[in-house]
Amino acid sequence: MTVLKVFFTKILRILRPSREVPAMAHPFNTIVSPCDLFAIAFPEGSDQPEISSESTLNALKDASHRLVKELACVAFPTETVYGLGALALDADAASRIFSTKGRPADNPLIVHVSSFAMLHRLLPSGYVMPKTYEILTQRFWPGPLTLLFPSDRAVIPSIITAGQPTVAIRMPSHPVARALIAIADAPLAAPSANSSGKPSPTRAEHVQRDLNGKVGLVLDGGPCDVGLESTVVDGLHDDGHIRVLRPGGVTVEAIERALVDGLGDEGQALKVLVHKRDYRDDAVEQAPTTPGMKYRHYSPSIPVTLLVTSGTPPPDVIPVSVEDWVSSLQSHSDPSQRLKVGLLAPSDSPVARRLLAMDIVDWISHPLGPVTEPSISAQRLFDGFLTLEREGADLIVMEELEEKNEGLAIMNRARKADNTTVWVVHA
Ligand code: TXA
Ligand code: MG
Repeated sequence: MTVLKVFFTKILRILRPSREVPAMAHPFNTIVSPCDLFAIAFPEGSDQPEISSESTLNALKDASHRLVKELACVAFPTETVYGLGALALDADAASRIFSTKGRPADNPLIVHVSSFAMLHRLLPSGYVMPKTYEILTQRFWPGPLTLLFPSDRAVIPSIITAGQPTVAIRMPSHPVARALIAIADAPLAAPSANSSGKPSPTRAEHVQRDLNGKVGLVLDGGPCDVGLESTVVDGLHDDGHIRVLRPGGVTVEAIERALVDGLGDEGQALKVLVHKRDYRDDAVEQAPTTPGMKYRHYSPSIPVTLLVTSGTPPPDVIPVSVEDWVSSLQSHSDPSQRLKVGLLAPSDSPVARRLLAMDIVDWISHPLGPVTEPSISAQRLFDGFLTLEREGADLIVMEELEEKNEGLAIMNRARKADNTTVWVVHA
């Protein structure tokens, strides 16, 4: 029962209206320009896009002009989440990313390229990629995989790497992202296009709502396919093993399969190690080189409670039934008002069915798709946080998912967003 008491004290503290923060100056009139991703093609063997829609071409040219000539930030879609881009090789341009997002300066940025030729222009001269990187880039680029490379200090400004000896690089597969980089003919630094600490945006309207007045242009390429950020991989260690610093759009299982396919027995011997699951790295944890290690991330402005339905709770925790839990949730809040509770759970979840049957709070459900399809849950997670927040939920309840395939990245984000964890009785 002490656990419940602690939980409610926390929830009530969070539900209390927060202190008013003075509004930021809004120097921009934010324009949202639609782009038709199906009007963009990269012909086989070419790094240059062919664009068959005049309005899309004009939007991309406008974006490129702002980036290259005005050194401004532009928000654009990628297959993972929307990015806030600026010229990566210009320290002044890149510094605007930090001021626009309110991002701490010691959190390094990912550099986005549109071609292998552009990648090689960024790497130290004569640099030879490890065999594992050849396999991973061949299999997953363009796509949601970020790789660490040695950083050439003469090329990459230190504001990008936060002074680290490595630089994170990825080649996005979203046609709008890739075309924009190709037309600007310059690598773009791009974190997710949200105020620091908030969930990453997966639709243009998420960016517009969050960064309205702070960014001049948002290219609208529709909802992001993957819905979670790229997988960040460090394969530069002498032992040759692949270290996953942040699970993301490319699953650990897919990386393992690609290495075995590409390297045979040698691939079998290589390990794919997930930070905090398979290894710890004190040096990395002291420096905020990977998301969530130092700073709060992915958090909506309303509290998130994670419902844990599997595993063994800590010795001092007594699991509760979902019915008891919801009843006490309502009875501990303002009796004149029903709580509005956002629910993120698989569409076929028995726990969700039981929760939704409890007609003592108002539920707003944002189903995460079938439990067997974690890629759909990934696509809907951040959208769910942001939609439930916008729809006026008082709090969000999320059911844990199995940490397999995309489930690993989903739970990584959910744990960083959650304020409270509640163990519920299985059955
Ligand atoms: O999918 C994505 O990766 C999206 C889209 C826009 O491409 N971008 C994104 O960027 O998620 P951001 O800044 O939100 O997350 C990138 C993370 C940083 O938090 C940082 O910790 C890690 O990548 N990172 C960047 N450079 C690094 C480095 N040199 N060593 C280790 N981690 C690094
Ligand atoms: Mg981010």
